[in-house]
Amino acid sequence: MDRACWQQSRCSYMSLTDKSRAIERLHQGQCTALELGCGPRKRHAGAIGIDRLDYVGVDLVGDVLEALRSLPSACVQSVYAYHFFEHVADLPPLLEEVARVLRPNGCLDVEVPHFANPYFYSDPTHVKFFGLYTFSYLSKDDLFHRRVPQYGRRPIFELVDVRLDFDSPFLLRGMVKRALGSLFNLTRWLQEFYEENLCYVFPCYQLHFSLRCLPLEDGRLMNRSD
Ligand SMILES: C[S@@+](CC[C@H](N)C(=O)[O-])C[C@H]1O[C@@H](n2cnc3c(N)ncnc32)[C@H](O)[C@@H]1O
Repeated sequence: MDRACWQQSRCSYMSLTDKSRAIERLHQGQCTALELGCGPRKRHAGAIGIDRLDYVGVDLVGDVLEALRSLPSACVQSVYAYHFFEHVADLPPLLEEVARVLRPNGCLDVEVPHFANPYFYSDPTHVKFFGLYTFSYLSKDDLFHRRVPQYGRRPIFELVDVRLDFDSPFLLRGMVKRALGSLFNLTRWLQEFYEENLCYVFPCYQLHFSLRCLPLEDGRLMNRSD
């Protein structure tokens, strides 16, 4: 790559486009939700959409980390990320930025494919896989019987709820899977039984995690810009 070309690609990688005065609106408290990696179908019309591709509904066009770093601390009450985290190689720095922009006790809502989803590995842009316990490694978890290590990290989120979603793009199979799958969400014990014994027999489609941002004194990291 020649020098001019390299500089151009570096500039476009580093640029952030604010299409709708999103940063100003967040500073003024006019908007209290973000949707990360919203793509062409933002689910929350009132949220500020962030995506590196310029679709309709995207308010901040650029890399998610760069976009979050341009926002004030504790500016939003909710952050949504649907089918986005599986595209992110290094989750902890992203979670730290999400925690910084969230108000204490703010909500993070995450939907990701389950590792047993047969379509998961077909997508070459997927770089991270998720199971029932993934956020138990990354947050305070009082939901599940199985304990997992935190690898020296202090939790900045608390796991509030986890749901296993069963579905199929095919109508009839989807109906059967949704009906059967609802059984596994009846109790935490059934969710853990499913994950250990049945995930490869009856593959889960996606996981839905609800997390709460811990207030600073509950363990949120102190090395923030605020
Ligand atoms: C599978 S799509 C999900 C779109 C939408 N949330 C949905 O559920 O249909 C993933 C989106 O994440 C965006 N994306 C991936 N990596 C990104 C990054 N580092 N920064 C910003 N957006 C990113 C992609 O451009 C894409 O629109």
